[in-house]
Amino acid sequence: MTTKPVIVYGASGYTGRLICEYLREYNVPFIAAGRSKDKLTEALERHVAGVETADFDIHEVEHSLDSLTELFSGASVVLNTVGPFSKWGPVVVEAALASGVHYTDTTGEQDWLITCDEQYGADFAAKGLLLSPGLAQMYTTGEIAAQICLETPGLDTLDIAVFWGGSPTIASTQTILVNAATSRAHYLEQNRYVEFDPAQGLVPLVVPGQHELAQSLPWGGTSHPVWFKRDPRVANVKAQGGVFNAALMNGVPQIVAGALEATKDMNEADRDAALEQTAAQVMNTMPPRENARINKSLDSVHASGPLGRAHCVIHGNQNYKQTGLLQAFAAQWLIQQPPLRTGFASGCQAFGHRELLGQLRAFGLVADPVLTVQA
Ligand SMILES: NC(=O)c1ccc[n+]([C@@H]2O[C@H](COP(=O)([O-])OP(=O)(O)OC[C@H]3O[C@@H](n4cnc5c(N)ncnc54)[C@H](OP(=O)(O)O)[C@@H]3O)[C@@H](O)[C@H]2O)c1
Repeated sequence: MTTKPVIVYGASGYTGRLICEYLREYNVPFIAAGRSKDKLTEALERHVAGVETADFDIHEVEHSLDSLTELFSGASVVLNTVGPFSKWGPVVVEAALASGVHYTDTTGEQDWLITCDEQYGADFAAKGLLLSPGLAQMYTTGEIAAQICLETPGLDTLDIAVFWGGSPTIASTQTILVNAATSRAHYLEQNRYVEFDPAQGLVPLVVPGQHELAQSLPWGGTSHPVWFKRDPRVANVKAQGGVFNAALMNGVPQIVAGALEATKDMNEADRDAALEQTAAQVMNTMPPRENARINKSLDSVHASGPLGRAHCVIHGNQNYKQTGLLQAFAAQWLIQQPPLRTGFASGCQAFGHRELLGQLRAFGLVADPVLTVQA
């Protein structure tokens, strides 16, 4: 049983450290939890700026339902960064439910969102708890842009682009590869999931702010179709995205196709191990701390309806910092008051898109949205 209100699970990772950094800035006491006390201590002491003035404890914990339930009991919220979430997430969600704490994570995996929505959402709602997977730059910043468009009534279709610049972390690379190779990507058409054609390949996109066409992929389908599936205003959602680095984008379909071919006859455990190995060949070191001049984000949403259109663009920087901040703000909120919605909910549904935008703006991580409306 813990005496601090917030647990950061996976605090030794790149994103976990940034969450701790922002929890300190919000003055929120927390437990930095993970599978290795040594790694947690090193991560907190060497990589969390100002940690000597934070109110926190370190807790090594086994990745099991019993151990996590015991750790979470007495807390208000767990912020989970241990991905790929379709693989490691269920036990953490079940422990949050058993111990009666709100749950958020940093996933961008569409299949994990669908699992949370369809399998666990009602149980969280019944207990008055929030289940908010995917509170992260990908795709909350784009969701904020979509919600700003939807402030104009009468729009029902969202066409979304999301791009970022910089290096993915070890777990992000694993997540991107495992997710691309093992799960289907969906868009929303008249409120039903429709599968992207797996053979679709790269699609060149016109994106705001540059002359060169960007190369895009469905990127696993993204979280947006799941978040908007039960939004009465919205019927159609399609998202495409990737990294600004076109050479890297050109290589992604080949890497995924090669990994699929090499693992097609393997059982699940061998396949996962082989995919992790391929991911490690792409990225096996902790990327450097982000730099606003290098690590950029772009979220662009065209919303349309029978007689109206809106376009919102959010230029931002330091995607992982945006994620750390969003998670820390959620904790700051949830230890003081209930979310706007319980059960399965996106960041914007739980905390309000204008509020989340305000936090990102206040910490210098996104520019003022550029909005064009014709209605
Ligand atoms: N949607 C977004 O915008 C966004 C943004 C940031 C992150 N993410 C996602 O969040 C996840 C974490 O990213 P990251 O950047 O923090 O990666 P990372 O630096 O590689 O950190 C991964 C963390 O998970 C822990 N972990 C890994 N396997 C574990 C296991 N089997 N049991 C217990 N703990 C385990 C690691 O612990 P050790 O230190 O002990 O290895 C570490 O704390 C990834 O899935 C990534 O895709 C998404």
